[in-house]
Amino acid sequence: MNDFFQKDIISVRDFDKAKFESVFSATDKIIKMDPTQRREIGRGKTLGYLFFEPSTRTRLSFQAAMALIGGTSLGIADMASSSTKKGESLADTIKMISIYSDVLALRHPLDGSSRFASEISEKPVLNAGSGTEEHPTQAIQDLYTIKKEKNKIDGLKIGIVGDLKYGRTVYSLLYALSNYDVDIRLISPESLKIRADSIYEIQKKVSLKESTNLDEYIDELDVIYVTRIQKERFPDEEEYQKVRGSYKIGLDVVGKMKENAIILHPLPRVDEISTDVDSTKQAKYFQQAEYGKFTRAALLGLVLNEAGL
Ligand code: NCD
Repeated sequence: MNDFFQKDIISVRDFDKAKFESVFSATDKIIKMDPTQRREIGRGKTLGYLFFEPSTRTRLSFQAAMALIGGTSLGIADMASSSTKKGESLADTIKMISIYSDVLALRHPLDGSSRFASEISEKPVLNAGSGTEEHPTQAIQDLYTIKKEKNKIDGLKIGIVGDLKYGRTVYSLLYALSNYDVDIRLISPESLKIRADSIYEIQKKVSLKESTNLDEYIDELDVIYVTRIQKERFPDEEEYQKVRGSYKIGLDVVGKMKENAIILHPLPRVDEISTDVDSTKQAKYFQQAEYGKFTRAALLGLVLNEAGL
């Protein structure tokens, strides 16, 4: 039996290096597989999704992944059109979707929402973003991208830039990277520094340095992971205005980077990376989004099939 069969995926903290590596090899297999054989993996299975926050890539890549393995998807992305609007509880909504599907993907603005869903759902729950807490399937795709584009993860110097306080992808990425031998640089405005309590444990495992100045590290980094300032999570719009546009990756910044460094971003971008960077060889964020379809197909395949892929 594979480790993921009928299991929830709520937090990257439940993963060790071997688990990551098994998802990566399942992803490699999915990519190489003959399409007819691939469609057998999810045949007759349904993904149910519930998105209480906006999404483009995560939801579409989950649906595309399910289609790739021959399954179908159903769900709600506009909660105003669901019975939530009539006052139905989150618990009942989750219960319903779990009755109509074989596996669930949930995005919700509250920390702890996916854990809660997993207690109610009759089917495995995949966390597609819970508050400012975690976004595990994004971290899996991020690590897979690094591995494919840099041919390794161990030994790299990785800079994470932007909103380190509210960005949930940042926390999942950090927890994931703490399984590897990496050097991490955290670059953010003073008011958006990483939440110290959340990284207390991983500080013991990886080397971390913080700065407000991207120039301090730009020429040493192998990977630059840029994030959006999470406007919607600020308690006060004025505070957002003070930090908006703090870091802008333009061609001038790319010019300071190592020749073979790569730029990642979970997307959506607002103004953190200028569009003229898109055509540079360092820009890998669209490739990263594409890998997301395959890593999610691998995860779904592992969760739905006892024998694995
Ligand atoms: C991220 C998220 O929802 O946390 N988006 C994504 O899933 N790729 C990042 C963001 O919204 O900035």
